[in-house]
Amino acid sequence: MHAHETPSGMVMIKIGRVDVSLERRQLFLEDRPLRVGARAFDILEVLIEAGGRLVSKETLFQHVWPETVVEESNLQVHISALRKLLGEDKDLIKTIPGRGYRLIRSHDAKVCANEAPAHPPRPAEATASSNVPHSCTPLIGREQALADVTAALGRAPLVTLVGTGGIGKTQLGLEAARGQIASFDEVRFVSLSAVERPESTLRAIAEALALDAVHAGASAERLIQAIGARKLLLVLDNCEHVIQEAATICEQLVQANPHLRILATSREPLRTRIEQVYWVAPLEVPGEDLVPDEILKYSAVHMFIARTRARDPHFRADSESVRLIGTICRRLDGVPLALELAAARVTALGIRELVAQLDNRFRVLTGGLRTAPARQQNLKAALDWSSQFLCKRERTVLRRLGVFHGSFQLGEACAIAACEDLSMGEVTDAIAGLVSKSLLMFGPCGSAMRYYLLETTRAYALQLLAEAGESETLERWHERYVRTHSTLEDEAEAPATRYG
Ligand SMILES: Nc1ncnc2c1ncn2[C@@H]1O[C@H](COP(=O)(O)OP(=O)(O)OP(=O)(O)O)[C@@H](O)[C@H]1O
Ligand SMILES: [Mg+2]
Repeated sequence: MHAHETPSGMVMIKIGRVDVSLERRQLFLEDRPLRVGARAFDILEVLIEAGGRLVSKETLFQHVWPETVVEESNLQVHISALRKLLGEDKDLIKTIPGRGYRLIRSHDAKVCANEAPAHPPRPAEATASSNVPHSCTPLIGREQALADVTAALGRAPLVTLVGTGGIGKTQLGLEAARGQIASFDEVRFVSLSAVERPESTLRAIAEALALDAVHAGASAERLIQAIGARKLLLVLDNCEHVIQEAATICEQLVQANPHLRILATSREPLRTRIEQVYWVAPLEVPGEDLVPDEILKYSAVHMFIARTRARDPHFRADSESVRLIGTICRRLDGVPLALELAAARVTALGIRELVAQLDNRFRVLTGGLRTAPARQQNLKAALDWSSQFLCKRERTVLRRLGVFHGSFQLGEACAIAACEDLSMGEVTDAIAGLVSKSLLMFGPCGSAMRYYLLETTRAYALQLLAEAGESETLERWHERYVRTHSTLEDEAEAPATRYG
């Protein structure tokens, strides 16, 4: 274990092959960030600070769970998670039976390892050429999703990650692509969000592939010819606004080259013959009435705390704050972008006030990353971006669905949203469109399939309803419907959805 400084000035502590940044609370293996839980990191921090000395279990409990009494098995779980991250250097965390743990320093380690070379030379990296950017922050809570997407890429030539704005499609796609670098001759990431005209889609792909011959006069034929039979993984990010062109190009490319794989991200499926759709789920959120220790196990909570700590390294959540964080995660539906925007407000508002302000989420959640695209600068922009792809009828139905507090069935939606100007058929079509565009959720609830809006989408729908001057009419309509159809009484439970 020794400290060194990276060219960017970040102080790193080396534990075996793993580098640790206490400042950023991150672990890296050969510059790649590793996923580590907040509690596990707290434990590691205490072990590092002990400088190789024994740290008793009591000390660890005091530092890591200052507010709660937890079972020893919790500690063991996090220690084994840390050992797993250290891989072949796992023995650097030594158990002192009945007493505690100590992190062995590098010169101690050499003695223990009997001077065997700590790291036998590893085979050269695959020669794949890739423009997939390195990840600066760890991906949280997506282990299963990554495994599923990777498996899907083995089965289908085109895998589309679909989900609502800010749910994490791009991050998941990037991480999945990084995992594929060794399996392909080339992995190319193409960001389509900046493509202004649909006809420029081909050119953007050609540019990312560095095909000079093609971007002068990009055509599908020239692109196909230039790609040839290469074993290529193409990541097409944010296809929704050029969806028709993206769908056509994907089909043409895949038909011409059996070795090509495409991983697309979009708020809507591409609807092609060759496609395997993967619905990206929100991060997991805790239910109500859980104890803080349980709440801390959920990935949404983990992410919120990580983002808050990135701004305030001294941030510590007591039991009350943990409960409130659980509420924030629930009310923001576990959507990473919303959690990130909320975490950015903690230093200015504090957790309690943040919860109180969630009813005004579009006004409060506005401090996006300077480097994020415009549609991710604030929560409303994320919905505006999706809303621009709706036809007039879909927009009308979306705002009217805002009157439902919980889940609802198609018949209920039709009865309310048809109002006086739409037919049942038109509402049904619009509902199908909204589901496809990830604005309306649909999933099993008890024995029936039901629809529901995420809380943020509902807040947006209600805002549109007010702007259209329809709030009162729809409320009245809804109340009358509820009076005559008692089944709406027990609608509150949000259903499980069709993710994965
Ligand atoms: N699993 C995760 N762990 C940590 N951060 C995440 C995770 N998923 C997403 N984020 C963060 O949330 C924000 C939104 O994620 P991302 O850009 O991937 O969403 P998206 O679904 O692609 O959004 P859009 O529909 O606008 O393209 C990003 O800043 C990203 O860093
Ligand atoms: Mg994206």
